[in-house]
Amino acid sequence: MGNKGFSALRLVSCLAFFIVTRNIVHGDLSYSIPEEMKRGSVIGNIAKDLGVDLRTLASRKARVDFEGTQNRYCDMTLNTGDLITSERIDRESLCGKKPSCVLKVDLVLENPLELHRVSLHIQDVNDNSPKFKKNLIEMEIRESADKGNRFSIEEAHDADIGQNYVQRYILQKNDNFILTVDSNKVELVLENTLDREKQKEMNLLLTALDGGSPQRSGTVVIHVTVLDANDNAPVFSQAVYKASLPENSPPDTVVITVSATDADEGINGDVTYDFGHMSDDDVHLFSIDPKQGRIAVSGLIDFEETSSFEMRIEAKDGLGLTSYAKVIVDVTDINDNAPVIYLKSLTNPIPENVTPGTEVGIINVQDRDSEKNKQVHCSIQQNVPFKLVPSIKNYYSLVTTGQLDRELVSEYNITISATDEGSPPLSSSKTVQLSVADINDNPPVFEEQSYSAYVTENNKPGSTLCSVTARDPDWRQNGTVIYSLLPGEVNGAPVSSYVSVNGDTGVIHAVRSFDYEQLRSFKVQVMARDNGSPPLSSNVTVSVFISDVNDNSPQILYPALEGNSFMTELVPKVAHGGSLVSKVIAVDADSGQNAWLSYHIVTSTDSGLFTIGVHSGEIRTQRDISESDSMKQNLIVAVKDNGQPSLSATCSMYLIISDNLAEVTELKDIAYDEKNSKLTSYLIIALVSVSTFFLTFIIIIMGVRFCRRRKPRLLFDGAVAIPSAYLPPNYADVDGTGTLRSTYNYDAYLTTGSRTSDFKFVTSYNDNTLPADQTLRKSPSDFADPFEDFETSEVGAF
Ligand SMILES: *[C@@H]1O[C@H](CO)[C@@H](O)[C@H](O)[C@H]1NC(C)=O
Ligand SMILES: *[C@@H]1O[C@H](CO)[C@@H](O)[C@H](O)[C@H]1NC(C)=O
Ligand SMILES: *[C@@H]1O[C@H](CO)[C@@H](O)[C@H](O)[C@H]1NC(C)=O
Repeated sequence: MGNKGFSALRLVSCLAFFIVTRNIVHGDLSYSIPEEMKRGSVIGNIAKDLGVDLRTLASRKARVDFEGTQNRYCDMTLNTGDLITSERIDRESLCGKKPSCVLKVDLVLENPLELHRVSLHIQDVNDNSPKFKKNLIEMEIRESADKGNRFSIEEAHDADIGQNYVQRYILQKNDNFILTVDSNKVELVLENTLDREKQKEMNLLLTALDGGSPQRSGTVVIHVTVLDANDNAPVFSQAVYKASLPENSPPDTVVITVSATDADEGINGDVTYDFGHMSDDDVHLFSIDPKQGRIAVSGLIDFEETSSFEMRIEAKDGLGLTSYAKVIVDVTDINDNAPVIYLKSLTNPIPENVTPGTEVGIINVQDRDSEKNKQVHCSIQQNVPFKLVPSIKNYYSLVTTGQLDRELVSEYNITISATDEGSPPLSSSKTVQLSVADINDNPPVFEEQSYSAYVTENNKPGSTLCSVTARDPDWRQNGTVIYSLLPGEVNGAPVSSYVSVNGDTGVIHAVRSFDYEQLRSFKVQVMARDNGSPPLSSNVTVSVFISDVNDNSPQILYPALEGNSFMTELVPKVAHGGSLVSKVIAVDADSGQNAWLSYHIVTSTDSGLFTIGVHSGEIRTQRDISESDSMKQNLIVAVKDNGQPSLSATCSMYLIISDNLAEVTELKDIAYDEKNSKLTSYLIIALVSVSTFFLTFIIIIMGVRFCRRRKPRLLFDGAVAIPSAYLPPNYADVDGTGTLRSTYNYDAYLTTGSRTSDFKFVTSYNDNTLPADQTLRKSPSDFADPFEDFETSEVGAF
């Protein structure tokens, strides 16, 4: 038949067979398709037939799976949901002679795992012609053969099944033979006796026809030689022999022995055996001993390949008369296949924050053996936060059982073991490496709860104060720590004008030189932040303690140094020894030892007359005043602090021993004598002598003015009234010793106002960072105020 015609007819037959039947039993699908469909032919629309949303096919990783490592006969197009053929499906090579040929396909969907069994019933197509084993059959028949004698002919074979198998035979018309076909037995029957003298030999054409559409046929030529005498054909002891054979039987294992007897004697009774028709695959698996009829194994018998064999055996006597028998060999299964573990899907790496119970992998286990040998148990090791959950058929889900923590375990080697139920059982294992992916779930943690830094004042800007360290066990940028200062204020200035932190190392530097007298300690907040997104952070407090350095000299508040004016004390002539005469008041902006003041008289007009309390600064008479004592007494007092090295200040104190205010007028001269040059004195004397009246007038004016300034003082033992104007508001003479405590040294500078040069003002550090209003608040007009107060209170007290 022409190739073109054949394929056209085949198409018709395909269409005829293409009756797609759909049976959804337990969610299973079944399609019936003809074999030999063109590659890419649509078998059916799985998505529609299962009711699966087309759009989810891709995301659910829909795919077809075949048991074992067979060829992929069909595939799925994800955009249409069609099941299509992807390879030639030849029913004959798939199923041989089996009356029904079913190809099992698994349709796998993930998330959740879903398995659908699709059965493809492969329908036979008449694509094989009947075939005789040989093209020529030689026969020798004696001319004496009787009418009605039968001569076996080996039947024709057809790889197709059913209607497509051999249905009938046609024998070429001839004078002597007719054909009888009876249950697989094809025989020539002698109808008219042979006459060797008339015809020595003849050729008969035998045609075998199948029932397919189109019909196919095969032919053989039977060459009959007519001999002189007659004979008997061999006869098998059984028409069908059955044997059972374990798979993997070694070569030379005897399967069965067939035997045929021939009634003839001599050469005519010698029977030889041979195989009849056999499929190409089976030809090398068995051998037959031509003399003994012993069938033995000669190749590898694999139950998984073929579970039963059917062979035709031919017995032939010396003259070429043959007869046939059938041998059916059933192969029994041996547990010779270990289970095979297939990893069908795996999420790797797994984020560490997956909830327990998340499916991370799908495993399929297959065993090619049958029955018990195919029953497989699957497990994984115990000490991992994963378990295998049996799913459908031989599918398992690998599921997390607990919280994962990459910082504890970043990788798991999961060993899956599968064991079948054969005896002995076979097992196999597969190791799956799973990594855990980082999630930014750990904030940086400081190594200490809080940090303290100690620095002595007058430090260099930029000097290191301390360093903070925070650790973050996360991976890469999720664990990279960056340090920064949290915004805040110290004394009203941004904290960044005090300290800075190195973002990478956490080292904290001073930005400015600190002054203990202004600031003894402060706190800053340092944040450690990782680089994740979103980032996590921790805060820590760093306390900076500034320690004192003796950098301030004692400050003498009383007696005040007021240019050329006089600060004098009146000492009554009647004062007894030990009377309190005056007091030196000094403060020191430092603290502790650095502010522990001691008072000493450095020089005095009369060294025996006055003494000073070392720590109180109180000036007392040492003895009773006598008339011989000079009226004017000068003391130079040094005030020292206890620092290392110590700093000091000195002041002069003028004491007038007098009961009479009038005498004080002379004091000015005395003072001027002391202070001014002699020339000035002479000048004054000259002036006095020139105009006494004018001088007297001036003296009166001067006297009045002096009296206004020098208020006569009432002296009591043990109590000295110090003018309150001399004391700054924040100072309090707490213990009566005259050592003043400053509650806030910085303010002391601002309010005493004794020397403008002593104003240590904060703006000098950071002029440009202070807000404008603050700068304004400390404007010189502010400083003027204390002076005014000073003046008015002084006048008012008079
Ligand atoms: C997992 O197996 C790999 C390769 O065999 C090995 O390098 C690794 O150290 C193993 N990991 C663990 C956590 O056992
Ligand atoms: C950091 O964590 C985030 C989630 O918090 C994650 O998406 C990212 O992959 C992680 N980075 C690294 C380098 O692991
Ligand atoms: C650290 O302080 C900043 C600013 O006050 C705040 O936003 C953040 O939440 C704090 N972080 C922690 C971990 O307390």
